[in-house]
Amino acid sequence: MSGAAADDRVVKDRARATWAAGDFPRVVRDTIPHVGPALVAAARIRTGDRVLDVGAGSGATAIPAAHAGGDVVASDLTPELLQAGRSAAVAAGVALEWVEADAEALPFADASFDVVLSSFGAMFAPRHQVVADELVRVARPGGTIAMANWVPEGWVGQFFVTMLPFMPPPPPGFQPPLLWGVEEHVRELFGDRVSSLTFTRGVQVVDTFATPAALVAFYRENFGPTIMTYRSLGDDAERRAALDAALLDLATRSNSAAAGARARYEFEYVLVVARR
Ligand SMILES: C[S@@+](CC[C@H](N)C(=O)[O-])C[C@H]1O[C@@H](n2cnc3c(N)ncnc32)[C@H](O)[C@@H]1O
Repeated sequence: MSGAAADDRVVKDRARATWAAGDFPRVVRDTIPHVGPALVAAARIRTGDRVLDVGAGSGATAIPAAHAGGDVVASDLTPELLQAGRSAAVAAGVALEWVEADAEALPFADASFDVVLSSFGAMFAPRHQVVADELVRVARPGGTIAMANWVPEGWVGQFFVTMLPFMPPPPPGFQPPLLWGVEEHVRELFGDRVSSLTFTRGVQVVDTFATPAALVAFYRENFGPTIMTYRSLGDDAERRAALDAALLDLATRSNSAAAGARARYEFEYVLVVARR
């Protein structure tokens, strides 16, 4: 194996371990249940469309895409999440194909899908141009590429920015995921290979948690990137307390609920829809 291939293996193994940690399906259920259906609506899936979901996780978007009539392939790097997706699809009464795949090297033929989707999935692969090229390659001419991406200034964007100083340094060549929430960056990635490109802001209101502290505790327990960030601090009590304080500060400052009410947050994202 070449040095570059070995480095890539390390990066992808780390990504798999991160997203398998905790309980990501629960994070979707309790915080972002409306984004998958919103992306499916924006992509205007028609009955019989061949649909690929990239970074599909446990099917938050792929399953609604199947409900909308798509013939769906859900692909992801993390087998544990695909397995959770399989069970969720059975419970929901829809049939999908589940395929382990890297967004940077999709195992699908050129122009083989009418619609290519990704909700907060493709944005987490390290090399953005490689991913954009793959999304374009597998979409048929005239087909649709539709993504939901976190924006840097939104709540989830700021949550990642808050964790960043506590995370291990990223591997060489790794580009920040939040750049996928920046319009100029995405325009550059797709270039003139798409005939139209639209950006529409969306907000997921989160009022599942009684208090900011409950929100932080939930992420510490269930959200892979947060779990891995704490894990990387080992038993450094001072750094762990500093991360606790930084996350609680964010959760307290950004709580828009009236005094005494349940905590309330607005998670801002952008829906990117391109026509190939
Ligand atoms: C925030 S989750 C989103 C999952 C799902 N799309 C959703 O909306 O719930 C990020 C997903 O991206 C996947 N992922 C990360 N890097 C990837 C890569 N290089 N190729 C494919 N999937 C990747 C993870 O395994 C994880 O399922």
